Amino acid sequence: MLKVGVLVSGGGTNLQAILDAIDSGKITNAQVTVVISNNPNAYALQRAEDHGIKALCISPKQYEDREDFHKALLNRLQEEQVDLIVLAGFLVAVPPMIVEAYPYRIINIHPSLIPSFCGVGYYGLHVHEKVLERGVRVTGATVHFVDTGTDTGPIILQKAVKVKQGDTPQILQKRVMEKAEWKILPKAINLIANGKVTVKDGKVMIEE
Ligand code: GAR
Repeated sequence: MLKVGVLVSGGGTNLQAILDAIDSGKITNAQVTVVISNNPNAYALQRAEDHGIKALCISPKQYEDREDFHKALLNRLQEEQVDLIVLAGFLVAVPPMIVEAYPYRIINIHPSLIPSFCGVGYYGLHVHEKVLERGVRVTGATVHFVDTGTDTGPIILQKAVKVKQGDTPQILQKRVMEKAEWKILPKAINLIANGKVTVKDGKVMIEE
């Protein structure tokens, strides 16, 4: 049974999609053992508690400097003995210290089709604002392994979503979540939990 630690910063709808997929049997061989937020007010923590899952906050504000915060986060993940770390709307850059401790064992959901609309400064609603500004007709979401760059790791799954006339960033964000994020993130976890995902020459291979 894969022990999954989910890192969050906000509402936690992707966390909810993971928990629902475990409950309904769409994800097998995995359990969420801990949810950690950098933000004490994240509603995601409440969702975890409501599900009987250990929920805790590790905030940079509790530490002298960034390095101490990173060490505390890493220590906690190691104490919890998680096998897979899922960044589900975690808006903190994961430092090399943590990436190197979990090679190809950290995944992230990003709300665009990488390599479009990603990298530093592209997170949450900003991504959808930029998509609408550029006027692209198709956007989507990507699940990828986390490496030391920003949104540069090997891509596991992607799903396209249409941009519609009259979309606002909020409307588009909701469509991308419903039609793409909440589907491909649980699917990727299920594939990993069942040993179907490997990385070869920096690219992901999926056993069908
Ligand atoms: C999601 O749209 C996720 O893709 C995005 O933050 C939102 C979190 O929502 N993540 C990023 O932008 C990472 N670069 P949630 O808390 O409701 O799951």
